[in-house]
Amino acid sequence: MKKMNSLLTLALASALSITVLAGCGTGAQQGGDNKQAASGTDSAAGGAKPKMVMATSADYPPYEFHDTSSGKDEIVGFDIDIANYLAKEIGFDLEVKDMDFNGLLPALQSKRVDFVMAGMTPKPERLENADFSDMYYDAKNTIVSKKGSNLTKTEDLAGKKVGVQLGSIQEGEAQELAKNIQGLEIKSLNKIPEIVQELKSNRIDAAIIEDTVAKGYTESNQDLEFNVIAQSTPAGSAVAFPKGSENVTKFNAAIKKLKDSGELDKLIKKWFEK
Ligand code: ARG
Repeated sequence: MKKMNSLLTLALASALSITVLAGCGTGAQQGGDNKQAASGTDSAAGGAKPKMVMATSADYPPYEFHDTSSGKDEIVGFDIDIANYLAKEIGFDLEVKDMDFNGLLPALQSKRVDFVMAGMTPKPERLENADFSDMYYDAKNTIVSKKGSNLTKTEDLAGKKVGVQLGSIQEGEAQELAKNIQGLEIKSLNKIPEIVQELKSNRIDAAIIEDTVAKGYTESNQDLEFNVIAQSTPAGSAVAFPKGSENVTKFNAAIKKLKDSGELDKLIKKWFEK
């Protein structure tokens, strides 16, 4: 009987925690509507916080990348530190899911994940399918190429094979450029390291990659250089949510605090000014 009782308690406790999760909008877990914001209050069932699933594409140092230096494979970076700050501030447990950049918005739309942080830019076409927080970082696009290849401005890409990440604003930028620049051929690839590899082995002539990411790859690959280019659309990063999500307001308040408290500046120093 005692056993029965504790089983019952257990069942009740997990039922409770499921209710709490449902109430806090982990659409990723419930497969349902995640309109409600994470409450941040501890549940009766053991003080568990609601869980929110964040999707990222961890091929983008210093924003998000796999760090194996400690012996185990961990996803770290600027976005991950910010996500942890937001989780603490808003009051949820953070789970990070890695996927191809091109799969992030579909995962959001089908509510398999609650939000996306992936150095993602709120460009107009994306606003049709997702809502975005305020921007937390600005960026510029660059041409990455072999050292000395003299590809410093967009016109130099005439007749060149240019690598970009599939589904990125850089791909959009290259498509825009190709309308006016003769013979610019686009090669879209899933992951940034694949693009860098193509470049190093001369299968493409250049890549369009954003400045801070280009900086890292050119520092660790001495045969490569980058040149900042003028761009038609602004770059930069914000958090993406399913359309209509009430979490946007909560996240914006926490992002404001991140900025006002000086914590964002600290993280910018930590990840971008090494
Ligand atoms: N800022 C660009 C965009 O929104 C590229 C982001 C790529 N991010 C990544 N984690 N690979 O399209």
